[in-house]
Amino acid sequence: MRIDIISVVPDVLKSPFEASILKRAIEKGHVEIHFHDLRDYVTDNYRQIDDYQFGGGAGMVMMIEPIDKCITHLKSERDYDEVIYMTPDGETLKQGMANQISLQKNIIILCGHYKGVDQRVRDHFITREISIGDYVLSGGELGALILCDAVIRLLPGVLGNETSALTDSFQDGLLAPPIYTRPADYKGWKVPELLTSGNTPKIEEWREDQAVKRTQELRPDLLED
Ligand code: ADE
Repeated sequence: MRIDIISVVPDVLKSPFEASILKRAIEKGHVEIHFHDLRDYVTDNYRQIDDYQFGGGAGMVMMIEPIDKCITHLKSERDYDEVIYMTPDGETLKQGMANQISLQKNIIILCGHYKGVDQRVRDHFITREISIGDYVLSGGELGALILCDAVIRLLPGVLGNETSALTDSFQDGLLAPPIYTRPADYKGWKVPELLTSGNTPKIEEWREDQAVKRTQELRPDLLED
């Protein structure tokens, strides 16, 4: 998979890809990440990428021309399955959406800033608008990173144990059951005995039961869906 991220502050995006699972995913060739500084696509001397709103009102708007130039340049080199815009008024990111996007080959992610982008960008270039939650961030970069992380860890071969992404919370519409590791007894706080019994069918049954209970207690809305 190839991900091109367009931003006015591309440096903000880089460090999460330099550690742990994301770094290994890049090193092993499962994903390529390319950062694009919108200011590189500006023709005027002031490197201006934003301007006042027509009709008045507080806040600057990202101009269409540099975004057009950047996206058009990328599209001239390869086909893209999606051009995603990170914005608080987009569709809320859910596991199912991450699963869908992880099946794509090439995607562009545009990070909004200031008040957002000129509506014509959304009308003519964007195929999907994604929010990471009902709150407003200072830019789309953190949202883009969250989206990349959620997607990249699903790519085949990225996680050591192929099944582990499938047993994540939300993959089956439920929260994950409680998990434990050694020691089985810490200061008298014991691991449920069944988990150390070796009775795999019973353990699976217990896990399912716990997942349903946890979901009922913490996220009953998931069961309604
Ligand atoms: N940009 C600003 N706020 C955002 C949010 N909640 N989700 C995605 N992009 C954003």
